[in-house]
Amino acid sequence: MKRLAVLTSGGDCSGMNAAIRAVVRAGLANGIEVVGIQKGYQGVIDRNYQLLTTRSVSGKLQLGGTFLQSARCQTMFTQPGQRLAAENLKGLGVEGLVVIGGDGSHRGALILQQHGIPVIAIPASIDNDIPFTDMSLGVDTALNNIVYAVDCLKDTASSHDRTFVVETMGRDCGYLAIAAAVACGAEYALIPEAPFAIDEICTALRRRYQEGRDNSILMVAEGVGTAQAIADQIKDRIGFETRIMVLGHYQRGGSPSTFDRILAARFGVGAVEALLRGEAGKMIGLACGQLVLTDLAQALAAGRKPIDPGLFRLARTLGI
Ligand code: F6P
Repeated sequence: MKRLAVLTSGGDCSGMNAAIRAVVRAGLANGIEVVGIQKGYQGVIDRNYQLLTTRSVSGKLQLGGTFLQSARCQTMFTQPGQRLAAENLKGLGVEGLVVIGGDGSHRGALILQQHGIPVIAIPASIDNDIPFTDMSLGVDTALNNIVYAVDCLKDTASSHDRTFVVETMGRDCGYLAIAAAVACGAEYALIPEAPFAIDEICTALRRRYQEGRDNSILMVAEGVGTAQAIADQIKDRIGFETRIMVLGHYQRGGSPSTFDRILAARFGVGAVEALLRGEAGKMIGLACGQLVLTDLAQALAAGRKPIDPGLFRLARTLGI
């Protein structure tokens, strides 16, 4: 193999730069040129690329976002677009491609694989909804961001006997909300995977304050609805002064945590080594601390990863 390419696609997350750097360094260490594609699949279509050197990735490891930038590319949903993407990569002499992104990006990776481009996909999405990996890149940093924000909120909430409803991202997956609730000592985690009764929550909230508690935190996954809608329901039922915080895209940014930096290094090097061994059409993942490769088609057919029942039990035992 003489040349491989790397791209980041879909929603960015922290750790993508560290993963690009690992791909570049692993490629160069094996005498392979590495081409960085700008703006995900859009860059493949537009032939928007640059040759990456150790200098190009110097100082990037600790930065959030992705210096190659990302995009959600509509052209890749069309068959002519998919053919053009594969032709462009072949024209560039690309013999292997590393795709860093979430399930939508992996779908594009599988299509390119089917058009003859050997591909390894790296799971990168704060949602942690990609199956066949315990953790996706960016999840740990997003959780750290949430925990920092909620710790700050608790200071102000307890000064005013307030209830805060905190909205996390995650699309249809409640992982961030429930994991952050455990990490922050929140009172509730409202997630799409588990039914909840707002009346019971309101009764329990009133009881907490009667017992002398000075703050309550409800984590709400965006898949359940908005923080504002939940806050309004609480106000309507028990008249509590309730404030909201919508964490939004803040969760995706910032310097990657140590865990994400090491995971990025392992995924990036592991992806290149897999391509060198002749493996392709696979997603790299982390299972019980070990790197594993899963057939991309199988991973995509499995749909969204369900929340670990152990995490549910842990949260329930802790009273969440
Ligand atoms: O999939 C990652 C994610 O951040 C989701 O948690 C969120 O629902 C979505 O992307 C937001 O997408 P966009 O960046 O297009 O607003």
